[in-house]
Amino acid sequence: MSTDILNLDLETAYTAVSETYKGKGDIHAACREMRGKSPIYVGDFIKQFGVPTNAGLKQGTRPTFALFGYKDVMNVLRDADTYTNGFIAEGLGAFFDGLIILAMDGEQHRRVRALLQPAFMPDTVNKWRGQIDYVIRKDFLEPMVPQKKADLMDFGLYFPIREMYALMGFPTDDTEKYKKYAAWTLAMVGGNQVDPEKIDEARRNAGVAVKLLYDAIQEVVVKRRAEGSHGDDIIGRLLRAEYEGERLDDHQVITFVRSLLPAAGETTTRTFSSVMTLLLTTPGLVDRVRADRSLVPKLIDETVRYEPVATFKVRETAKEVELHGVTIPKGSFVQCMVVSANRDEEVFENPDQFDIDRKLKPSFGFGFGPHMCIGQFVAKVELNCAINAILDLFPNLRLDPDKPAPVIEGAQLRGASHVHVIWD
Ligand code: HEM
Repeated sequence: MSTDILNLDLETAYTAVSETYKGKGDIHAACREMRGKSPIYVGDFIKQFGVPTNAGLKQGTRPTFALFGYKDVMNVLRDADTYTNGFIAEGLGAFFDGLIILAMDGEQHRRVRALLQPAFMPDTVNKWRGQIDYVIRKDFLEPMVPQKKADLMDFGLYFPIREMYALMGFPTDDTEKYKKYAAWTLAMVGGNQVDPEKIDEARRNAGVAVKLLYDAIQEVVVKRRAEGSHGDDIIGRLLRAEYEGERLDDHQVITFVRSLLPAAGETTTRTFSSVMTLLLTTPGLVDRVRADRSLVPKLIDETVRYEPVATFKVRETAKEVELHGVTIPKGSFVQCMVVSANRDEEVFENPDQFDIDRKLKPSFGFGFGPHMCIGQFVAKVELNCAINAILDLFPNLRLDPDKPAPVIEGAQLRGASHVHVIWD
C-alpha cells in the first residue's frame, strides 16, 4: 500500500487538485468571445484549457459540442431524459464502484434522490445551524482572534470538512480523522488527469485512496448497523432506507457515502475563498455587509453566479437533437458552460460586474434541474455562519497590505488559494 497516500495531508491534496483543475487561459474571456460569435461551438471547447472533464477517458472519443447561453444551459440541465449522466460512472466514476448519485439517470436517479432528499431539506439543515455556528466560532475562529492576521484559507480548508463528516454521521470523538478522509477524497478526485506523465501515478493513488476510504466508512457503517441504525444523519437514513424494494446492504451504503464525499467538502472551501475575496476587494462592500447582515445571503448568491466553482457540466445526448441549426448526434458530449450562462448579457445586466443588489434570477453555480446540488442548503448555512462569525470576531477585517491580494482563478474549478487578512 502506498505510504504516500496514507500520510497525505489535506493541504497538499487540495493544492494538487487545484493545480490539476486550474489549467490555462482565461475562461471568462474565452466564453465572452464565444457569446459574441455563436451560441454553439462544434468541437471540444474545454480542451484548450488543459483540464480534465468528468467524461474521463472517454473525452475525445465522441462528437463534442459546447453551449454558452443561459437558456440553452438551463434547457440541457433541466432535460435529464435527453441529456444524461450515466457516462460519468465510466469517467470520473471509474475510480469508484457501487452507487453514485451523480452518474444515475431517469427513474433510478429519481428514487435515490427521493431517498436522500429529506436529510438535506432546509428544515432539517436549519436544525444543525446552532451546532455549525458553535464549531466555527469555538473550535476555529476564537483561537485565531489574538493573532490579528491570518490566511483565511487556513480556516476555509478545514471547517466544511469538519461539519460535513459530523452531518454524515461519522463519530465526532476523533475529528482529526476527517482531515485524512478528506485528503484521500481529493486523491480520488485527482485521479482524473489530462497530463499523460501524471496519469499512471494519479490513477494508482486514486485506487489506493478509494480502498482506504472504503475501509474507513465500512468501520462506521458496520458499527452503526450493529447499534440499531438510528439517527437522522445521512448514514442513519441510508441504513434504514429501501432501494428497489430492499434495504441497502453495507456495500451499497459504503459506496454511496463515499461518492458523496467529493461533492461536499472542497466545493464549499472554494466558494468560501471566492466569497471572501469578492467581499474584501469590492470597494465599500465589507463595511456595508458588516453593518447589515441581511446582505450575507445576497453576497453568497451573487458569488455563486459571478464565480461558480465548477465552470462547466458535461452531459451525453440520449438521442439526436438539433440546436441552433446544428445536428448533435445521439451519444455526443455536450459541454454546458455554466461560467458563461451565468454572465449571459441577454439575461444579466452588466454581467461582468459583481453586484449583490442585482435582481435575483436562477443561475447555475449549484447546477439546475434533477441533479441540482442536493447539499446547497448545507453549503449556504455553513458559508453564512462562517461569514457572520468572521465579521463578528475580527474587527475592521481587511486585506493584509503586506501580502499578495487574493486572485480567483481556475479553468475548471475556480477559487483563490490564499486570502491574507488583518484585523484590529
Ligand atoms: C458551495 C458548495 C457547493 C457547490 C458550489 C456545489 C455544486 C454542485 C453542482 C454544480 C452540482 C450539479 C452537478 C451536475 O449537475 O452535474 C452539485 C451536485 C451535487 N452536490 Fe453539490 N455543491 C456544493 C456543496 C455540496 C454539499 C455541502 C453537499 C453535501 C453533501 C453536496 C452534494 C451534492 C450531491 C450529492 C450532488 C449530486 C446530486 C444529484 O446528482 O442528484 N454539494 N453540486
